[in-house]
Amino acid sequence: MFTIAIDGPSGSGKSTTAKLTARRLGARYLDTGAMYRAVAVGCMGAEIDHDDATAIAAYCVGMDLDISTDPDDQYVRLGEADITDAIRAPEVSAWVSAVSTNPECRVDLVKRQRDIIASDNFVAEGRDITTVVAPEAEVRVLLTADPEARMARRGAELGGAVDEAGLRDQILRRDKDDSTLVNFTVAADGVATIDSTFLTPDEVVAQVLLLARRAGIDVD
Ligand code: DC
Repeated sequence: MFTIAIDGPSGSGKSTTAKLTARRLGARYLDTGAMYRAVAVGCMGAEIDHDDATAIAAYCVGMDLDISTDPDDQYVRLGEADITDAIRAPEVSAWVSAVSTNPECRVDLVKRQRDIIASDNFVAEGRDITTVVAPEAEVRVLLTADPEARMARRGAELGGAVDEAGLRDQILRRDKDDSTLVNFTVAADGVATIDSTFLTPDEVVAQVLLLARRAGIDVD
């Protein structure tokens, strides 16, 4: 079994790259950011205060989370509730740093993520996969891109629904908050950096597959 770990900031192209790579290799796909977002949605629904770190951690540890690992059929469920679309709401993007900067939430989510990726061949993406969740992964990649390119990509994804100040908040402010507990701007030892600023998704995937082949993963 293999794990391919892909970290990087918002808008670096992680999700596209990880999903395409998983499809290409017939592997499972894990979007760990969706798990942090699910905690935020659950806490918001339970009317937990953004500043109440103890209540946020307690919610996280007790939640019944079901996340799809099929790259072609992504869903997220909390108990019976389907929150696949809800996790992408701008309010959630603004709230989620309260989860990602909560050390107890991180411990709980890292454990859940390790259990999931131990079950099959996985391409997992996030901020701490190469360093904390799966430092032994066969392939470890830090995907970067210039801030302007990252903002433009997120803007295109949101179909122009968010102005430049909003994009700055979603991309640059969030990366700054998130990087208080996890360093995802500098590649750790043994982690390959791919700068996607001037590359197409297919070109990025080709580079990841090259690394996979070198690591002995059967790519063909
Ligand atoms: O990648 P994303 O925007 O869906 O991530 C949602 C939030 O979760 C974001 O604030 C970063 C955080 N996150 C994290 O701290 N560690 C991860 N492995 C994945 C995401």
